Amino acid sequence: MELRLAAILCLAFVLCTHPVSGSYPTAQNVTWQSSNFKTILMWEPKPSADYSYTVEYSAVGRDTQRNLHCIRSSATACDLSDSLTNVSTCYTADVLSEPPLGASSDMVEFPYTSSPRFCPYEDTDIGKPDFKLGVSGDKRTTTLYVIDPETALHKDGQRLNIRDVFSDKLQYKVTYRKNRSTGKKVWTSKTNVIEIPNLDRGVSYCFSVQAYIPSRSHPDKQLGEMSQIRCSSDDNQSFFGDYSVAVIAAAIFLILLLIGIVIAVIVVCCKRRNKALKKEKVPLQDA
Ligand SMILES: *[C@@H]1O[C@H](CO)[C@@H](O)[C@H](O)[C@H]1NC(C)=O
Ligand SMILES: *[C@@H]1O[C@H](CO)[C@@H](O)[C@H](O)[C@H]1NC(C)=O
Ligand SMILES: *[C@@H]1O[C@H](CO)[C@@H](O)[C@H](O)[C@H]1NC(C)=O
Repeated sequence: MELRLAAILCLAFVLCTHPVSGSYPTAQNVTWQSSNFKTILMWEPKPSADYSYTVEYSAVGRDTQRNLHCIRSSATACDLSDSLTNVSTCYTADVLSEPPLGASSDMVEFPYTSSPRFCPYEDTDIGKPDFKLGVSGDKRTTTLYVIDPETALHKDGQRLNIRDVFSDKLQYKVTYRKNRSTGKKVWTSKTNVIEIPNLDRGVSYCFSVQAYIPSRSHPDKQLGEMSQIRCSSDDNQSFFGDYSVAVIAAAIFLILLLIGIVIAVIVVCCKRRNKALKKEKVPLQDA
């Protein structure tokens, strides 16, 4: 009995006199934040001066690796975009609590927290695309020219866009409405040049576009971020289409009137000058 008590006291003494080596706090709330394959591992809390964090990651079934920028660091985020380059696999990462950079420790294993599983192809959010509007000759179709968002991935020195990564799995969803109406319509397309048919002539429509990857298993991840809204003009006919006939007629009338006045002024002036000249010349001829 007494022996046991002594053992416990002894253990407590050992723990209390070596608090640093035994008890680095572990990381909490380890999460992935990923958009267009730019992927950042984040966690809490900010470390004290007594310890630091190191990130180790591995693809499923592969060896553990480290990212140079995330070794014994006091940051609470690690950009792993350049490390998680195999989009068709899944990764996990551990955040280890280690001594600060330069300090040593007699510990063999450091406490760590594991991240959830992250599969870039399935999980990265897709950012908003940009697009341009064009109108067909008969004004009944509007065409959207969608520009694929760029990703953080590279291949042969070239930056890849989301079409390069998802190819025919990538679709675009267009949401549109008449400019001052709330009734929305949706049109999906497998290509980047999207013709929206059966629009009313001479009406302004407003469009927005988002990436759509129906093959993704998680419904929340199928739709990308919504683009900004672009509206077609409410009359695409021509310059004259923007003005009523009366306004054009009035403008032409005004221009003609102005020309008339100018001509009249010139004529009147000339006549007067001629008269004045004659008056001066007449007495001379008589003399
Ligand atoms: C982890 O997240 C929870 C809920 O968001 C929060 O209450 C908690 O404070 C976080 N932990 C740390 C260490 O910040
Ligand atoms: C990428 O991951 C897939 C699935 O795990 C694997 O079959 C493939 O060999 C990996 N590619 C590379 C280059 O490591
Ligand atoms: C569409 O509506 C917005 C406001 O609702 C307005 O600012 C914009 O000029 C309109 N566009 C056209 C082409 O009518």
